[in-house]
Amino acid sequence: MPKFEYAPAPESRAVVDLQSSYGLFINGEFVDGSGASFKSISPATEEVLAEVSVASDADVDAAVKAARTAYTRVWSRMSGADRGKYLYRIARILQERAREFAVLESLDNGKPIKESRDVDIPLAAAHFFYNAGWADKLGYAALPGGANPQPHGVVGQIIPWNFPMLMLSWKIAPALATGNTVVLKPAETTPLTALLFAEVCQQADLPPGVVNIVTGAGPTGQAIVDHPGIDKLAFTGSTGVGKMIARAISGTRKKATLELGGKAANIVFDDAPIDQAVEGIVRGIFFNQGHVCCAGSRLLVQETIAEEVESRLKRRLETLRVGDPLDKNTDVGAINSKAQLDRIIALTDVGEAEGAERWDNGCELPSKGFWFRPTVFTGVSQTHRIAQEEVFGPVLSVLTFRTPQEAVAKANNTPYGLSAGIWTEKGSRILWMADQLKAGVVWANTFNQFDPTSPFGGYKESGYGREGGRHGLEPYVKGTH
Ligand code: NAI
Ligand code: MG
Repeated sequence: MPKFEYAPAPESRAVVDLQSSYGLFINGEFVDGSGASFKSISPATEEVLAEVSVASDADVDAAVKAARTAYTRVWSRMSGADRGKYLYRIARILQERAREFAVLESLDNGKPIKESRDVDIPLAAAHFFYNAGWADKLGYAALPGGANPQPHGVVGQIIPWNFPMLMLSWKIAPALATGNTVVLKPAETTPLTALLFAEVCQQADLPPGVVNIVTGAGPTGQAIVDHPGIDKLAFTGSTGVGKMIARAISGTRKKATLELGGKAANIVFDDAPIDQAVEGIVRGIFFNQGHVCCAGSRLLVQETIAEEVESRLKRRLETLRVGDPLDKNTDVGAINSKAQLDRIIALTDVGEAEGAERWDNGCELPSKGFWFRPTVFTGVSQTHRIAQEEVFGPVLSVLTFRTPQEAVAKANNTPYGLSAGIWTEKGSRILWMADQLKAGVVWANTFNQFDPTSPFGGYKESGYGREGGRHGLEPYVKGTH
């Protein structure tokens, strides 16, 4: 297949005004942390972008106290309509500053600008708009508490590095709309857009203490989890840390929602339009370098078309452009961190050792930074670790099936249950499959589509609670998790 040559088309970095160091955002102001600091780098170049404070236990305590004061004195007394005004204001500022956020997200995270510009940031703004709309209508949202649902108070929120701004919006927008105040910790490899968001809170004149941003790694997260002044926790990240959080709060009054990992099946039947399915497979697992909890990391393809799908898929993958995240033509960016790259390498080595057949698209990779070629394993069996464990990288495992029953059994044969995809012309089969699949989200003839009005969340070890839609408000009012 002929490959097209593309001239470099880099997005300008000039729109981002990076400071050399950042403090913590507590009570509406940036303050120096009392602990050490760490560096956030660009995973595409290993360039240091900024020094960021590590929030100590004392800093977390100050943030929780600020959130409590803002809750009792201001936010819980404000009408829903007024809270909504602040959320609309934040949403509009995010739209106005979208390019700045997109460039900073791609710099700090390594994801292609095409995605941060067209998916992450617009969706983050959309979540604020959507939840702003609910703020004065909570009595009509069929929430616990009926006509007068009550917030928990102070919410601790811990988010991962794969969609930094989008996860921030999933967490902060519904919490604020329902009348809670928050202490949020971004991930240690991607803190910069959360700190830029703190500036947006100032720009929107959000009352001090309603949103507090503390940076740091696991110990800072743990300090939030353990703080007695936290009423509710919301976490997105690994199943391991999710389980630790669930254990840490058992026997306390704290509520929690956990959005954890996944090992989604993307199921292609022999009547599916193959070229469209191939696009959906690519979107399912190579979007955001495969750092997606609901990624379609297991392709289940009907045996009769397996060979054809595999060959068309590989041909398509050879056209993917891997490289500079800020280049507008880039399809696949950098792996988020050295640690994540090491995990991907280790697990794919196991895949080979266990007997699956490994293929990659052979593309050239930049000499600096963290990179991994789009990779496909065929001849994968259900017991292989690459079929059971989350790789969280651009790695697809291909399995085959003969009947719809077999597809369902294989799709459900995982400790996770976050998402699934079905490709077929038959509407009745879509409905039957969706009913059988133990997954919180089931896409039909598409994959990785997100919308703020649609609830998202998992079964089994993928966690509990829903984010997005009316359901996403529920965990933030009393009477639920
Ligand atoms: P992680 O679960 O350690 O990190 C997620 C967040 O939790 C970060 O903000 C981190 O600082 C915080 N954290 C870490 N330890 C904590 C603790 N003891 N208490 C409170 N907060 C804590 O995830 P990690 O190590 O970055 O990635 C490991 C694997 O987890 C990935 O390979 C992937 O399989 C999975 N993962 C899943 C995500 C999802 O969206 N479901 C997101 C990130 C990772
Ligand atoms: Mg970074």
